[in-house]
Amino acid sequence: MDWFHISIFFHLVGVGMIFTLLFAGPIVESNFRWENDIRMKQHATKMLRSIGLLSPFGALVLVLSGIANMVILKITFGDLFGNDAWLGLKLLAFIILLVMGMSISPKIAKQRAMLLDQMSQQNPPEDADEKLTSLNGEQTLFLVANWILVIAILLLTLFKP
Ligand code: HEM
Repeated sequence: MDWFHISIFFHLVGVGMIFTLLFAGPIVESNFRWENDIRMKQHATKMLRSIGLLSPFGALVLVLSGIANMVILKITFGDLFGNDAWLGLKLLAFIILLVMGMSISPKIAKQRAMLLDQMSQQNPPEDADEKLTSLNGEQTLFLVANWILVIAILLLTLFKP
């Protein structure tokens, strides 16, 4: 076992962490949608937030092991725009994934939590259901975009076009 195998080992652990999220996210989200009881919906929101905590750790493992892969393979920053443009594109997709995960996802989670709080009170806002449907739609787009970006990253890594 050499350094490259060790680094790829950790990289694949990071890939596993990201895929755990990609599968668990829609499963918990579907629980959230099917549940009629507001308190159960609040519980599912908390679960989503908990599994979301895996993403910064997964991202850290991927970035550190990815940089180690680059050092071992002697890939320089300049190569990202030339010989290894596939890796440049992969990094771009990864950065979009990170930015979306840090901005859109917490925003939707916060707004849904606030809305559910209002809905659990005695006089919920009249348009609460429509607001929830629209936030659910945003969440669906977010989950689909995550899948598309990760599949694009995998294809770029496998085919190195
Ligand atoms: C969601 C994010 C990522 C996924 C799904 C992913 C996936 C993979 C996979 C499946 C491999 C192939 C392992 C093998 O050959 O056995 C790989 C290799 C590699 N990854 Fe990533 N990776 C991600 C992020 C990153 C990042 C952020 C970097 C750089 C900082 C990076 C740099 C590399 C390099 C340099 C290789 C070796 C390529 C080669 O064998 O020529 N990856 N990645």
